[in-house]
Amino acid sequence: MNEHGKGGGGLPSAPLEDAALRALTLDGMMALADAMLRRGLENPSSPLRKPALATVNSAGAPAVRTVILRSVDFTARTLGIFTDARSRKVAELGAEPRAELLFYDPACDMQLRLSGRVEIRVGDESAWASAAPASRRAYLVTAPPGTASPEPVSGLPADVAGIIPSLERMEEGRVNFAFIEFRFSEADLVVLSRAGHRRARIRYLTDARQAEWLVP
Ligand SMILES: Cc1cc2nc3c(=O)[nH]c(=O)nc-3n(C[C@H](O)[C@H](O)[C@H](O)COP(=O)(O)O)c2cc1C
Repeated sequence: MNEHGKGGGGLPSAPLEDAALRALTLDGMMALADAMLRRGLENPSSPLRKPALATVNSAGAPAVRTVILRSVDFTARTLGIFTDARSRKVAELGAEPRAELLFYDPACDMQLRLSGRVEIRVGDESAWASAAPASRRAYLVTAPPGTASPEPVSGLPADVAGIIPSLERMEEGRVNFAFIEFRFSEADLVVLSRAGHRRARIRYLTDARQAEWLVP
């Protein structure tokens, strides 16, 4: 897992109230966006660990699903997601690499929408090495995800169902493993508050970032 650069500040545990809201600057908004990603990375039980990934399908229709945030690189502005190379999202992203990731924290009522594009690396060695054994097992599923079944199934071969197989056995699933590297170029942060909401757009440039207020 990579985590470089300044995050700046923490994430409030409750919605911002009057004085804190009034004190919120654009720098503060950028720090909050970083803090949301940091929280998702560091706290497995945070809802920020499970953003929604939105893609566009071949018919131009939206497609959205929950994924797990696996890594964040604040310098490169990339996030990492693990998936099955045979999944629908991988085909969609292969044809249209633009995507959005949506994070929401109900504790502080903040929403972060990241826009960017992805690169998909099937069988990626370092991402595979960083995956816990319990995560690696999922890639031994025999039929592609989304295949219809006449009965409820895990899709796992009988020899690995209910157990964590040996590392050698799990290596056979690596061909089905894909690392999605999402590089974000823009963020839209909404801070909900009884004192009046706040919203900002952040543009991530090569060596800088710029923020501007938006009407919520
Ligand atoms: C809490 C939760 C976390 C999930 N995390 C992932 C994930 O990290 N990667 C993934 O490919 N699918 C994940 N899924 C499953 C996806 O939401 C989705 O159902 C699956 O990937 C098939 O999506 P697709 O047909 O659009 O490719 C998760 C589902 C849930 C409920």
